[in-house]
Amino acid sequence: MDTYQISGGGRIDGTVCAAGAKNALLPLLAASVLGKGESVLHNCPALSDVYAMLGILEAAGCRTEFSDGNIRICPDGMKETFLHGDLVKQMRSSVFLLGPVLALKGSVCMGFPGGCAIGRRPVDIHLSALRKMGADIEKREETIICRCERLRGAVIRLPFPSVGATENIMMAAALADGITVIRNAAREPEIEELQNFMNKMGAEICGAGTSVIIIAGKKRLSGAEWNVMSDRIEAGTLILAAAVTGGRIFVKNVRAEYMEAFLSCMEACGMRIDVRQDGIEAAAPHRLKAAGKVPTGPYPGFPTDLQSQLLAVMTTADGVSMIEENIFEDRFKVLKPLRLMGADISLQGRSACVNGVPGLHGARVCAEDLRGGAALVLAALAAEGRTVIENVTLIDRGYEKLEKTLSKLGAEMIRIKEGRDEQGKRTRQLPDIY
Ligand code: UD1
Repeated sequence: MDTYQISGGGRIDGTVCAAGAKNALLPLLAASVLGKGESVLHNCPALSDVYAMLGILEAAGCRTEFSDGNIRICPDGMKETFLHGDLVKQMRSSVFLLGPVLALKGSVCMGFPGGCAIGRRPVDIHLSALRKMGADIEKREETIICRCERLRGAVIRLPFPSVGATENIMMAAALADGITVIRNAAREPEIEELQNFMNKMGAEICGAGTSVIIIAGKKRLSGAEWNVMSDRIEAGTLILAAAVTGGRIFVKNVRAEYMEAFLSCMEACGMRIDVRQDGIEAAAPHRLKAAGKVPTGPYPGFPTDLQSQLLAVMTTADGVSMIEENIFEDRFKVLKPLRLMGADISLQGRSACVNGVPGLHGARVCAEDLRGGAALVLAALAAEGRTVIENVTLIDRGYEKLEKTLSKLGAEMIRIKEGRDEQGKRTRQLPDIY
């Protein structure tokens, strides 16, 4: 398992261009399956979750090619609707394939999707919506089997505005007979991105970005070309890196209107936020003020995907913060390693009460999930001495070469590649120097 070695105390200062958004790209890849011919996606981040999704599609018979941030994908040779396998179990987002493959092929069979260890992550909302559209669904041990002659439009009211379920229904409905209406839909910007891409493929969808989405089913769609939107979560993480080190950052190509809850929280902590036409500039005071009460919520609320990172940054802010997690019940695994680094945090139900301390110290810690891993990196940037973070491949699921990005901005951070030789002895590869 690779590790990060970070010597804290450096100040983040510089300009960076936000990468393409993983949470936009994964549903776009799934939607590409619906179109006849090739789709070309630009500004694609090289993340392990993206490779896993491409692997699942390749195994099903799609042709895919990924180079220099561009993905070409052609589903015309897709024969296999059995998506069982390790890759499906590895990633939660494999569930996005249920709707489109079922709509296109009339059947789909896949293992229960996996993902980060942040909570139960059931798929009941996805399945009951597909059932309402006429799918026959069977759950056998570890496998979901869906069949239908042809899906039909339906009025579907979600019990919770699930991002993935909203996207799955949009994709299934695009080739269904008649009109589908999704009520209490999730309103995340990535859903609007999916709508716009699919409309370019020939779909007829409106309302994404509001809580009512209407989809008129079409007989066929075709491949399209698309430039993937910037990653608001990566941008937020980098702004937090500046925040925790008393630094300054300009994140290019990111849209502030998608980050309002986060940016106003950072302003309340004493950061100066300057929204420009081409990005966001953020400058931190020597020590941040505590954020007070921050509840996570569905968009436009504070994103759960920035909760762990904010929590890590609040460990050294002046005052007490109450960070309430309302989306995933088990998203506080990062508390333990943060305490090892000297943080003063207690868990009160679904809230973490963070009492800011003057400083953290380096320690050997382990990433337990993607965003929790990023949070440990932020804590290490501020800590005195050296921090070693194990299991950083989890961070690769959502950040492309985070060590390279942060090193360029002034962090003292290296990645050590660890493996085993033929005799099973542990080997360590010299770090890349950026
Ligand atoms: C997406 C994002 C993820 C983000 C999350 C919430 C992608 C690839 N991932 O995940 O980064 O953290 O939105 O913003 O876009 N739920 C059910 N039953 C279901 C579906 C969901 O109970 O069938 C629950 C989940 O357990 C969770 C909540 O609904 O508690 C939100 O999940 P959802 O919005 O579906 O998240 P994802 O689409 O998995």
